Amino acid sequence: MPRATFTFPAGFLWGSATAAHQVEGNNLNNDWWAWEQQEGRILNGDRSGRACDWWAGRWREDFDRAHETYQNAHRLSVEWSRIQPEPDRWDEAALDRYRQMLLGLKERNMTAMVTLHHFSNPLWMVEMGGWENDAVIELFAAFSRRVVQALGAHCRFWITLNEPNVYMSGGYLGGGFPPGKNDLKAGLRVLLNLLKAHAAAYQAIHETQSDAQIGIAHHWRGFLPANRGLFTRFDTNLHNKVFNEAFPQALATGKFDAVLLKDAVPQAKDTQDFIGLNYYTREVIKFDLSNKADMYTQRSFPRDAELSETGFISSDPEGFKQCIKWGRQFNKPIYITENGAEDSKDDFRRKYLLEHLHALWHMVNHNIPVKGYFHWSLVDNFEWERGWSQRFGLWGIDPITQLRSRRKSVDLYAEICRTNSITSEAVEKYCPEVYDRIYPG
Ligand code: FCB
Repeated sequence: MPRATFTFPAGFLWGSATAAHQVEGNNLNNDWWAWEQQEGRILNGDRSGRACDWWAGRWREDFDRAHETYQNAHRLSVEWSRIQPEPDRWDEAALDRYRQMLLGLKERNMTAMVTLHHFSNPLWMVEMGGWENDAVIELFAAFSRRVVQALGAHCRFWITLNEPNVYMSGGYLGGGFPPGKNDLKAGLRVLLNLLKAHAAAYQAIHETQSDAQIGIAHHWRGFLPANRGLFTRFDTNLHNKVFNEAFPQALATGKFDAVLLKDAVPQAKDTQDFIGLNYYTREVIKFDLSNKADMYTQRSFPRDAELSETGFISSDPEGFKQCIKWGRQFNKPIYITENGAEDSKDDFRRKYLLEHLHALWHMVNHNIPVKGYFHWSLVDNFEWERGWSQRFGLWGIDPITQLRSRRKSVDLYAEICRTNSITSEAVEKYCPEVYDRIYPG
């Protein structure tokens, strides 16, 4: 049997990622909480409820779990509606609680990466029209400044926005997020305002903390044409342009081009210090005149794809390589800010994790400057409109009792984090199912 060790560069960050609304619990003052109260919005009528109970302090035990299993970094988000519960009020106690969390990471020798906006919005801001209102741009910059003033002593890595493209399609193209609109024009305006808000926040953060490292977490998704037909190829390109390219290209060039909406945003030019990439899967796109609801598109996965538990993800490490190669063009350090799969049984996850990390190692070995990897997620958490039906955690959770259960992937990932490498021993021990794929004879 061939044996080998695939080693990552010294100082590589190994961690997991979470988001405030998904783990904190009792975020009463934001649009997601309100959304959960409406019938039919969340699968099975689930609610975030106490979530993973982090706001009550359970982050401590979960950080211990991460630390004891050799993770040396964590990506978390702060909740705008807690820190600024009203337009003219900052909640110092909320800021202090986040300070405690960041100190908690420091005590455990873990590097913090903080996201300023991860999908949820304060209710007062939604009442103003949310991201459709241009006034939100400056409000977000002021919020970012306040957070960095308060927490900058304990964090240097900032993600202004999580997945602006997913936020836009989720909320404005019928994707099941609040505000639940189906309005492409409004959606593109929102995307443009998010871009301007990022640019303003980038400025504000650097003015506050000169050595800050700032980026976004960009959801990059592979789109494969189902056939060679003209319409299908056009549709695939359109997806690629609007979803994958428009936002990050504008961050590099200051030119926003989402095909149906173009604008010059010079203040956004060169406003990323690193490239954050969230990668889950690639999908197959087919033009379909009968599917008006999804903009005349039929989405699927390749016929022989290995699918995750709820069919959300096809395991596609080649797509991960493509994503990372795509990220190289910006000539900045790259962090994988999310990657993972939903799987309560933890068979799919172990294979997915290993094959994706092996693909990542290949890219690093081709001198692409990937500096860290954050697995989604540390513990099962509230998966937005899919509620508790999807289990993305290395640890499982019972949201009622708050009991955690350690999945096998914990040990696999711990071994990778501990040795900063993929070893044949670890593959043999924790995931023999893919040994032949990682070490072909
Ligand atoms: C990403 C989100 C994250 C989580 C994962 C599964 O799109 O950023 O909050 O929902 O998907």
